[in-house]
Amino acid sequence: MLRIGLAMIAATLLALLASTSTVQQGVRDLWQSATHLPYDKYRDMRLQVLLVPQRSVDAVRLPDTTAVPMTGRQIVTDRELLGRTLRNPVAADDSSIARGERKFLFTCTPCHGTTLAGNGPASVEFIPPPDLLGASVRARSDGFIWATIRYGGAVMPVYGAQVTAEEAWNIVNYIRHMQKTNPR
Ligand code: HEC
Repeated sequence: MLRIGLAMIAATLLALLASTSTVQQGVRDLWQSATHLPYDKYRDMRLQVLLVPQRSVDAVRLPDTTAVPMTGRQIVTDRELLGRTLRNPVAADDSSIARGERKFLFTCTPCHGTTLAGNGPASVEFIPPPDLLGASVRARSDGFIWATIRYGGAVMPVYGAQVTAEEAWNIVNYIRHMQKTNPR
């Protein structure tokens, strides 16, 4: 029984070696590929034209300076600076104000309250926010309020992930509208 098994294994191996010249399924040299297990240069897959350049010395070439930004873009989050430089690009029409109101009621009222007075349900757990219709916020520029929403305040959390740039301008328009129509 054992002898038959060994004979079968030997026959298989012989057949394998004998077929070297005919088996061309991706292996250039069957014997070499069987004996050079680290797959050195005897495997076709390793000799593909596409892979060869990666072995060369200058494989890790830096990207073309004109094709890829090398330094990236620095995002300015300074509220004071943005407050001075940003101009509100969204016209304060009814549509913008209505969209700003909807977003405000959804995102900001937990702290700022539905009347914008800073008495939302979460404000008691948190530091009470200022009255958005009060003099201090009236004196802020549109860009400053926009930057407060997008990048956070002294303690107010960052809402840049929940409120897009355009939505933040809509909210600014809504706050301005409320300030105009609710004198305090
Ligand atoms: C988790 C509570 C919380 C939420 C939610 C919140 N705020 Fe505030 N906000 C504060 C606090 C506290 C302050 C005052 C301290 C500060 O400036 O960080 C503040 C300040 C402000 C100011 C005044 C900044 C200044 O210095 O004049 C504005 C404007 C403002 N928030 C707008 C918003 C808008 C718009 C939203 C919704 C996108 C929002 N806040 C959501 C807590 C919150």
